[in-house]
Parts: sequence; C-alpha cells; structure tokens
Amino acid sequence: MKTNTIPQNEIICVIIYTFIAFLLMAFVLILFFYFSRIKIVKNEIEKRYLESKHQKSLLHSIITTQEDERKRIAQDLHDDISSKLNIVSLNSHLLLTPDLSQKEITEITNNIINLTKKTLDNSRRIAHDLLPPVLEKFGLDAGVKELCLEFNSSKSVSVKYENLISFNDDNNDEQRHLHVFRILQELMNNSLRHGKASSISILFENEDGINYCKYSDNGIGFDTTKSCNKKGLGMKNIESRVSFLNGVLHINSEINKGTQIIFNF
Ligand SMILES: Nc1ncnc2c1ncn2[C@@H]1O[C@H](COP(=O)(O)OP(=O)(O)OP(=O)(O)O)[C@@H](O)[C@H]1O
Ligand SMILES: [Mg+2]
Repeated sequence: MKTNTIPQNEIICVIIYTFIAFLLMAFVLILFFYFSRIKIVKNEIEKRYLESKHQKSLLHSIITTQEDERKRIAQDLHDDISSKLNIVSLNSHLLLTPDLSQKEITEITNNIINLTKKTLDNSRRIAHDLLPPVLEKFGLDAGVKELCLEFNSSKSVSVKYENLISFNDDNNDEQRHLHVFRILQELMNNSLRHGKASSISILFENEDGINYCKYSDNGIGFDTTKSCNKKGLGMKNIESRVSFLNGVLHINSEINKGTQIIFNF
C-alpha cells in the first residue's frame, strides 16, 4: 500500500517561502510606515509654516494699520488743529497792536471766536473717530445703533439691526466691544464701497452661551478664494480682531449673492 507522505524537501521549501513572504511583508509594512510617517511630518511642517506665515501677515497688517492710523491722526492734527491754532495765535498777537480801531478789534475777535469754534469741532471729530463717545458711555448696543443711524442717514443703504444679547457693564468687555464695533465699521464700509449693497443686516445673538454677530449684505459679493481680494488691510484686521476675541470668523460670499459674515466674541 502506497502511503501519501509529503517529501521533507517540499516542507522545508514551503517553510522557507512562507518565511521569505513574511519577511517581504514586514519589509513592505516598515517601508509603508516609514514613508507615511515622513509624509505626516512633511504635512505638519508645511502646516506650521503656513500658520507662521499667516501670523506674520496678520502682525504686518496690524503694524501697517497702526502706522496708517498714526499718519492719519498726525495729518488731522496738523491740518485741522495746528494750522487753525496758528492763525488764532497770530490774531491774538494782532490784538496787542497799539491804536487799533474798534472795528478792527471786533473783526479780529470774531476771527478768533470762529477759528476756536472750528478747532473745537475738529478736535471733537478726531476724538470721536478714535473712540466714539456713545460706545464708551452707553456700550456696544448704543454704539452700533448710532453707527447704523449714520449709515441709514446716507440714504444709499438701509441697515437693519437686531440685538438679542443683554450686555452687562463689565469693564473688561469695553476693549472687546470696541473690537466688535470696529469690525462692524469695516464690514459696513466694505458693503458700501465694494458690494454696492442697498441693504445690510446685523444680528447679535447668543447660542449655547456664546455671543455671535451675524452680518449680511445684499451686495455684488466677491470670490473669497481670489488673491486679489486678500490684498486689503480691512479683512486682515477683522481676522486679527476676531482672534483677539478668541473667536472664529466665517466668511461666505459669492458673486451676485451678497456677503455673509459670522463671528463669535
Ligand atoms: N461686502 C463686500 N462686498 C463685495 N466685495 C467685498 C466685500 N467685502 C470685501 N470685499 C472684497 O474683498 C476685498 C478685500 O477687502 P478689504 O477690506 O480687506 O480691503 P479693501 O477694502 O480693498 O482695502 P482697505 O480695507 O484696506 O481700505 C475688497 O477689495 C473687495 O474686493
Ligand atoms: Mg476694506
């Protein structure tokens, strides 16, 4: 009777082949993990690089805006205050001239009164631009209401504002509220300047304990991915203000579909 035994050589061959197959598999796995690890590290480095590039550009925009703002204040002070005070000073010295007629004295005095009034108005306007008094005295809600009134009075746009948040008078909030106010100022300027919007809507609401500002306009919209729309300072400033507020900014806009912006603060 013939026994069906497998030759020993064959068993050894199978063991060797299986061993080689395992070795190959292990080698392929090691290679796979090695290269995917390299890819992960590469992605991580690239992400960090982009993040630091973004941070740098935000910082750059903050510094540029600060310098622009200083330049503007210096110009305002020079043109609207210093030059007028100069003439007031000249007129005051004129009053010291001996033998002035009563008519001349009245004329010079009226000049001084008029110029002082204009200088006062200008200094109030400059101070108002730097920090709107209503915002400081009555808070964000009143400040935004006044801002909307100013835009509504231009008649070219209708602004709808609704506030569903009750702000408390915490002093720590002042700085944060000034950021929200400045963000809205820039958004509204953009809606008019670029969007040619005829209607703007602003909503403050609280969802799950988080304050949101929901802003939208019915303007011409823009492509948020295009680099030409990322050159201005306005949106970069908004981004850095939102990051000061530890918030997140969502911009949604399409050509002919208006612009919607949401951020939390
Ligand atoms: N509401 C909007 N409707 C249409 N386009 C907009 C709107 N907001 C922004 N944009 C587009 O995005 C670009 C960037 O806006 P951003 O405010 O950053 O810069 P800017 O207004 O051009 O200049 P800056 O604000 O520095 O004076 C604008 O040039 C415009 O093309
Ligand atoms: Mg702008």
